[in-house]
Amino acid sequence: MPMTYDEFRQLNLRLDMSRGKPAPEQLDLSRALIDDAAAAGYLSPGGVDCRNYGHGAGLPEMRAFGAELLGVPATQVVAAGNSSLELMHDALAFAMLHGVPADTDGAEAGRPKPWSKPDDVAFLCPVPGYDRHFAICESLGVRMIAVPMEDDGPDLDFVEAQLRRDSAIRGMWCVPLYSNPTGAIWSAEKVRRLAALPAAADFRLFWDDAYRFHHLTATRHATPDVLAACADAGHPDRALVFASLSKVTIAGGAVAFLASSPRNVAWWTRQMAIRTIGPDKLNQLRHLRFLPDRAALEALMERHRALIQPKFAAVQETFRDLLGDTPDVSWNAPAGGYFISLYVPKGFAKRTVELAAQAGLVLTPAGAAFPHGRDPHDSHLRIAPTFPSLDEVRLAAQGIALSVLRAMEEARVGARVGV
Ligand SMILES: Cc1ncc(COP(=O)(O)O)c(C=O)c1O
Repeated sequence: MPMTYDEFRQLNLRLDMSRGKPAPEQLDLSRALIDDAAAAGYLSPGGVDCRNYGHGAGLPEMRAFGAELLGVPATQVVAAGNSSLELMHDALAFAMLHGVPADTDGAEAGRPKPWSKPDDVAFLCPVPGYDRHFAICESLGVRMIAVPMEDDGPDLDFVEAQLRRDSAIRGMWCVPLYSNPTGAIWSAEKVRRLAALPAAADFRLFWDDAYRFHHLTATRHATPDVLAACADAGHPDRALVFASLSKVTIAGGAVAFLASSPRNVAWWTRQMAIRTIGPDKLNQLRHLRFLPDRAALEALMERHRALIQPKFAAVQETFRDLLGDTPDVSWNAPAGGYFISLYVPKGFAKRTVELAAQAGLVLTPAGAAFPHGRDPHDSHLRIAPTFPSLDEVRLAAQGIALSVLRAMEEARVGARVGV
């Protein structure tokens, strides 16, 4: 007999399933980065003294590592920052303030036109999507246009129609592999079409390849090569690719990458040289020692998978047991990434989160995966199973399912008594 919602509540639990953070055991996999920090020294293999200023685009060996991971020439990779979100924020801030090179610029191009002038700037935002992308837009005054997601990527007929009718659109958020939070794997066909769509001459795809290495199954799905697709379509500067070692080693204490066309890399390096006299090369050196090549990274990611895959499986099993027969309730089974999307009947997501909170479960606020936190159907919940222990995840999944059922029961009772 499964527990009831009231019995669950009486357990007085305190569980947090709100953010996609690595669990402590995952962070322990990279303990050597801390324990052996001194052994990395300060001289790079190429002889750079990493204690000093300089190398704004990153340590050459780290750029080469990024190139190996992303499949682009090292000259087209920047290694910088502690994590990728700051690079995305800065790229958008730079574009708003200073503009980006446009397709129409010739070799004699003058200063690009700031996106923020004269005033209206819009971004295409596939939904459900990553709340922090939307927060960047909100904070920089970028209007957001929600784009419906399909299993293999965004609805491109919709995207094309928006691009035709709205000349303020300057960019689009893209999480092409194991999208946060739908788990979508964008198809090569969609990526090719996106690269070729008619758009503003300074239109940019903010290509957030956050989950490039984060597989949950034995199949290592690959991200289509968007830089090549854009170059083939005659828009070589259209994509800015972001990736990160943040959820590979130390969350917020790793190294991030930006990869793009030579012109965009030159643009980025110029802007960045004003902001900083160079990245933390000592951290880059420690990372190179810990992860000397792609094989080392992939072996580490297998260990992450062994820790988190059972947590995803526990959520799936619990939802199947408790919600499998519930009409209008569905969820995805991602092949990678950090999230599960749970869809409840329209109008029930907020109430489910409230009921879960009353039972001691902190969930991501309903609507968080939509611009301005507003889910028009109030039906989407983002489940983040990585951080709690396996036993806690199992319990939390029960609590979520029981909260969904209680919310639906309340509505049925309310309808019967005419409330
Ligand atoms: C889609 C996406 N991009 C970026 C990030 C953050 O990455 P980083 O730690 O490199 O800033 C996350 C974290 O949840 C994410 O889901």
